[in-house]
Amino acid sequence: MPAVTATAPGKVILFGEHAVVYGRPAIAVPVNQVRARAVINAEPTAESGVIAIYAPDIDLFSDLDQLPLEHPIRLAVDLVASSIGVKRLPACSIKISSTIPLSAGMGSSAAVSIALIRAFSGFLGQPLPDEQISEVAYKVEKIQHVTPSGIDNTVITYAEPVYYQRGRSIERLKINAPITLVIADSGLTSPTAETVADVRRGWEQDFEGYEDLFDRIGEISIKARAMIESGNIRLMGLLMDKNHELLQKLGVSSRKLNMLVETARENGAMGAKLSGGGQGGNIIALVPEGSTTFVSDALKKAGAERVIMTRVYTI
Ligand code: PMV
Repeated sequence: MPAVTATAPGKVILFGEHAVVYGRPAIAVPVNQVRARAVINAEPTAESGVIAIYAPDIDLFSDLDQLPLEHPIRLAVDLVASSIGVKRLPACSIKISSTIPLSAGMGSSAAVSIALIRAFSGFLGQPLPDEQISEVAYKVEKIQHVTPSGIDNTVITYAEPVYYQRGRSIERLKINAPITLVIADSGLTSPTAETVADVRRGWEQDFEGYEDLFDRIGEISIKARAMIESGNIRLMGLLMDKNHELLQKLGVSSRKLNMLVETARENGAMGAKLSGGGQGGNIIALVPEGSTTFVSDALKKAGAERVIMTRVYTI
């Protein structure tokens, strides 16, 4: 039996992180330059039920049943098996790898789950449809984040730009004029669960103030959607700047993220903001098509650890 392989892209949030956890809309796009991959091989000589996990990027070499029940890899495999209704799993080995930076706001954990769920259900002969893949990935995310909004599993499963609001059916976003982004990694890792918990504490202490900030961020997402759909890229840049300012007020930016955002703007970006959970991770800068190298070089000089350029459009 040939190996079964599936991949899933990284993502960035263009607008609305954090506020999306509190029911406001957000916009996210896939980043295809970085991907998670799961490769599954049948192991006919091994005893049935034995599943070997090999994830060299995180130094994990283990049999599945040696992992804690709530380990995201084990959970993903178990949830796929129960959705399909398979009790005795065939012996196999699962290799997981990813080029998506960890804890950097690019959806690495959701992408690993989604590649694994897609590959494993295919390996069992019953590939799950996107909707179910996204649902299973959401359950796995919940164990890690407690209150994920669901935007990561949605944009990564569908691998298309999405306008997302909790509890509503997903809306794919039409991007008429291509959006060119430079994504710069601050090199500071920051688990999303921590910044989400910080924001929750702030919200509990100052309910009205935080609700107002979430409303203002949500309004930006609504406006940005119209700008993106009409191809008004320059105004979209201004909205990114505004969104960054509100994220600063939420307390999720940091000196390094602010400095990278400033550097991008000073070097020709039409707008820039942090993306994802914040504190560390990435900033995104909206740049004119011909200026990607210039802005990237400036960001690297200013201390970005790694820069990814991506062009987002829909066909
Ligand atoms: O840091 P990431 O890529 O996991 O993005 C988190 C986005 C938040 O809005 C902060 C959390 C969420 O669940 O939507």
